[in-house]
Amino acid sequence: MTTTVGASRHDNLELFSTRTLPGPRSARLLADQERQESNARTYPRRLPFGIASARGSIITDVDGHRYVDLLSGAGVLALGHSHPELTAIAQRQLELFVHGLDMPTPAKAEFTDKLLRRVPGYDSGSDNWKIHFCGPTGANAVDAAVKLARVATGRHGVVSFQGGFHGTTHLTMGLTGLLAHRAGLAGIGDGVTFLPYSDNRNYPDQRGADHRFHTTLIESLLTDPNGGIPEPAAIILEIVQGEGGVVLGDHNFLTTVADLAHRLGALLIIDEIQTGCGRTGTFFAYERHGIRPDIVCLSKALSGIGTPVSVLLYRSEHDVWQPGSHTGTFRGNQIAFATGSAFLDLLDRDGILDHVAAIERAIDSSLSPVRDRYLEVHDVRGIGAMWGIEFAATPDHRDTGGVIAKAVQSLCVRRGVVTEVGGRNDSVLRLLPPLNIDLDLLADACTVITTAIDEVLTTGVAQ
Ligand SMILES: Cc1ncc(COP(=O)(O)O)c(C=O)c1O
Repeated sequence: MTTTVGASRHDNLELFSTRTLPGPRSARLLADQERQESNARTYPRRLPFGIASARGSIITDVDGHRYVDLLSGAGVLALGHSHPELTAIAQRQLELFVHGLDMPTPAKAEFTDKLLRRVPGYDSGSDNWKIHFCGPTGANAVDAAVKLARVATGRHGVVSFQGGFHGTTHLTMGLTGLLAHRAGLAGIGDGVTFLPYSDNRNYPDQRGADHRFHTTLIESLLTDPNGGIPEPAAIILEIVQGEGGVVLGDHNFLTTVADLAHRLGALLIIDEIQTGCGRTGTFFAYERHGIRPDIVCLSKALSGIGTPVSVLLYRSEHDVWQPGSHTGTFRGNQIAFATGSAFLDLLDRDGILDHVAAIERAIDSSLSPVRDRYLEVHDVRGIGAMWGIEFAATPDHRDTGGVIAKAVQSLCVRRGVVTEVGGRNDSVLRLLPPLNIDLDLLADACTVITTAIDEVLTTGVAQ
C-alpha cells in the first residue's frame, strides 16, 4: 500500500509515496539472510529491502521500488552505481586479466602514476612519495599505516581521537572510539591513547568559541614529561569524522595536531578513506588545511566503481619495510586499477569537484533551515558531499537523538530515499550522495528528508 505526500519532478521514482517495506520479495531475502548470515550484519536492519539493480544514483529493489541513493555504498560509489564508461573499462579488463598479486602491470602503473600526481608536493623527479597496495579494505590500509609508523619510529604508542572510526579489525577497532563494539575484546587498543577530537563537540556553537583552550589541552597532554603518554609512533587523524557523525575538524585543531606530530617525531597518518577522492570538494580533504601528512590512507571510492582497492601513500623517507612486511593476496585487482585511472580522469573531465561544491550549496540551503525550526535539531553540518543532521531528543542533552534520526531514516527509505545514521548513539542522519548526483534529484531527495523531519518532530513519531 502507498500514500502520497508531495510531488516530485521525478515521477517515475514515486518519491513522496510511502511504501510498505519490506515488499514480499525483499521480505523473503531478508528472512533467508537472517537465518543464514551473521548477526553482525548492519545496513539491512534499517534499510529493509533486497537490491535487484542500481544505476547512477538510483537503486531498484527486488519488488520494483526505486530509491535515490544518498549513501553511495558508504561513500564507495563516487560516480554512482555502474557508471557506463567505467563499466565498459571494467569489462575490457575482465577479458584481459583480473588478478595480478603485486606484479607490475600497465593498468597498475598508469593508476599509480595518476594517483601519486594527485598528492600535493609529489615530485616525479625525486619520487618523494611512495604507494603501497594493501589488502582490499580500508582497515587493511590503516593497519599497514600503523605498522609502518611503528617500524619507522621504533615506538609503539598511537594517538587516536574520540569519535574516530578506522575500521573493525582488531588493530583498527582499537583505534576506533565506539566502546560498544570493543566490548569483550580484551587487550584491544594496546598502546592507543584517545584524545578529544577538534572543538566542534565541545563548542558546537563555533561563533565566538575559544578554541585555544582545546588545542592547549591536547598540546599539554602530549608534551608533558610527567603526563604519562610516551612519545607516540603515530597520530591518526580524520579531517572530517564520518562514522563519528560528520564532525568537521576545526582548522586550528587540525594544524595544531599536525604540528605536534612533527614536533614529537611521530608520523602523521591522515585517514582519507571516507573523505578522500573528492568527497569534501578537494581530492584530499587535508589539502584545505595546508598540513603535511607522512602517511595517507585511501580506499572506498578509489576505483570509481566499487571494485575493492586500498592504498597507503607515504613519504619515501619512511619506506623502512623489508620485502614482505605487509602483503596480502588481493593486492592486485586490475579492474580496480583500470577503472581507478579512468575515474581520476573523469574527476577532471566532468568537473566533479565543482559539482561537489554545487552539492554542498544545494544541501546547505535545503537542509540548514530545519536547524532553526526545531529545538531537537541540534545541528546541520557538512562539507562537499558529506553531511549530517544531528538530533537531540532533549535539546539540552546531546547524543540523545538516535530514536529521532532512525525514525527520519525509516520514513525516508519508505518514501524512496536511502540515508544512513551515525555518530554518538546514532543521533546523526548522514548523507553521502554520489559526487555526480543530478541536482534536481538531490533537491527532491532533500525535500523528502525535510518533510520526514517535519512529520517525525511534529507528530511525535519518535517520542
Ligand atoms: C575513516 C575510515 N577509516 C577506515 C574505514 C574502514 O574501511 P573498511 O570498512 O573498508 O575496512 C572506514 C569505513 O567506513 C572509514 O570511514
